[in-house]
Amino acid sequence: MLRIIRYSAVALLLMVGGLWGWAWVTKSPQETLAEAFASRIASVFGQDMALPSAGGGMQLPMGIELGGPFDLVDHTGRPVTQADFADGWMLVYFGFTFCPDVCPTELGTIAAALDAMEADAAVVTPVLISIDPERDTPAQLADYVAAFHPRMVGLTGTADQVAAVARRYRVYYARAQNPEMTEYTMDHSSFIYLVGPDGRVRSIFRPETAPETMAAAVRGQLRAALPRG
Ligand code: NI
Repeated sequence: MLRIIRYSAVALLLMVGGLWGWAWVTKSPQETLAEAFASRIASVFGQDMALPSAGGGMQLPMGIELGGPFDLVDHTGRPVTQADFADGWMLVYFGFTFCPDVCPTELGTIAAALDAMEADAAVVTPVLISIDPERDTPAQLADYVAAFHPRMVGLTGTADQVAAVARRYRVYYARAQNPEMTEYTMDHSSFIYLVGPDGRVRSIFRPETAPETMAAAVRGQLRAALPRG
């Protein structure tokens, strides 16, 4: 019995040591070793838990950096930058308020994931960044985000500001006109991004990810980022 415990302890040490080594070898230049280690731990314990085939969390491929600084206006009309969110984490979705179906579904998923996280959700701000700034004024966003979550933040800006943040997240969007409709619509990619306090994307969730899956993956990342000691 004692031997089993001893073997388990050795196996655990080897695994943690292995992850540390892996983090050291694979860390990107901007990452500290501790950050790299935390994200590798998260990849083992947080992200790669059984994912449903329809959707789920994706670890960013090595060397891909998404996210970063932005200059936008929030739904109260206040100018905001990434620094205004540096106290916590964000679940970010790029969409638009006139979207008939996909955007409401994904924003509903974010809200449900936060509900599932209970107290842990306090450090996560749900954010909608509009890719249709022409129609999505701060006032338009204010009514819309409030319908999904009391803490949801709507962000918009000039066409250039929106293009800049979309580029940093590699978001695709384009105006589309259905001949049967008077109003234009927007084609856009539909991922949910978990963003750390430093503004870097830590996880991407595919469309139709289950809220429970998202909640578990976000919790994994939050735990992995806790200071150790
Ligand atoms: Ni949409």
